[in-house]
Amino acid sequence: MAVAQAGSAAPAVKSGLEEKSTIPDISPSGTGSFEALCSDGGGGARASSVVRLYRALLRPLLRPVLRAAMRNQVSTGQSMLLMRTFFTLYGMPHANNDQIALEFLSRLLPHEAEYLRARTLYGSLRGQLMIAPVVGVPGIGRFVDVRTAWLDEALGEALGKGAVQGVIIAAGFDTRAYRFARPGVCFFEIDLPGPSAEKRALVDAALPDAGAHPRPTYIAADLSKVSLSAALEGSGFDPSRPSVFLAEGLIYYLPPQAVRALFQAVAALAAPGSRFCFDWLRLSCLSGRALNCGFETLATAVSNRGEPFLSALDDETPGALDALARLFGFRCVSTAGARDMAAHFYGDKVPWWDHPATVATCFCYAVFEKV
Ligand SMILES: C[S@@+](CC[C@H](N)C(=O)[O-])C[C@H]1O[C@@H](n2cnc3c(N)ncnc32)[C@H](O)[C@@H]1O
Repeated sequence: MAVAQAGSAAPAVKSGLEEKSTIPDISPSGTGSFEALCSDGGGGARASSVVRLYRALLRPLLRPVLRAAMRNQVSTGQSMLLMRTFFTLYGMPHANNDQIALEFLSRLLPHEAEYLRARTLYGSLRGQLMIAPVVGVPGIGRFVDVRTAWLDEALGEALGKGAVQGVIIAAGFDTRAYRFARPGVCFFEIDLPGPSAEKRALVDAALPDAGAHPRPTYIAADLSKVSLSAALEGSGFDPSRPSVFLAEGLIYYLPPQAVRALFQAVAALAAPGSRFCFDWLRLSCLSGRALNCGFETLATAVSNRGEPFLSALDDETPGALDALARLFGFRCVSTAGARDMAAHFYGDKVPWWDHPATVATCFCYAVFEKV
């Protein structure tokens, strides 16, 4: 479990996201139970007839194709790392600025890094397949790219507003504890025991100077077995101090009751003014009320690897995110769809033939603040 101290080295803080809801018609009047706001989508029972047909015809074909394409499977943490570095390796002008992720990738997946950097035919074909309509997920790389930039901005803003503890839940190969380290701020990275140990070894190899890159407190915990509070116990985390909690690429892999427990745990640990930043999946996609072809492929790919999407948040009822925040004693500071966020970060920086930027639209982003 626990390891080293957070220390010095202050990175630049970017300007904050606008504090507004970019999903239309989110009004504080919308209310509902947790079950209505966060659900498993009903196992397809609520799917439209178009989605039922799409799933019946295409899933049986897609499943083996995706299984074959992903046979050299990497862990979910590694695949996030790969996608996070994709645009930087491709030299795209709008890519996120996570240089430490590049360093991690070169050590963990040197061949993948090399064929992407060298833009080999194999690398290009795989990249194109990944974002191709029907067999791929159009805009998935851009979604992860934008998510990285968004969470950097949200974290920078929370630290700028006085957070002195950063809790990175299901950290994987997240690099923010190293990029955002600064005097007076402690970071905590929580992951399963295996990935947590792998991360520590990787950080020691890639960033050997612990003075320049102070270590977070590493917490090895299985959050399906222990609560967040139990995981943080004895780590030095102080719930009376303002904090920022990050859950990137996590909550849709948890069943609704675990999402509820996570929101409750964060709320219990968050001093007033603390922030909780997370990305979420649209219920209209998971339930199949709306056809989103990229989502259908992605859902098949993640269930193929034994990590299906298990929950989503209501993206249709006005005020749903505000209501969800209120249920746990938060206020919703901002929520945005991936398309809005891509426009926010890329603006005109994408080529004219790809304008507005194609981005996977089944996910959204949210920042809650403890009241
Ligand atoms: C999709 S990855 C996301 C990693 C990171 N947040 C990112 O965006 O790069 C999911 C991470 O959750 C971790 N994880 C999965 N189940 C967990 C559990 N029960 N308790 C703690 N961590 C878990 C995995 O080890 C993995 O690092």
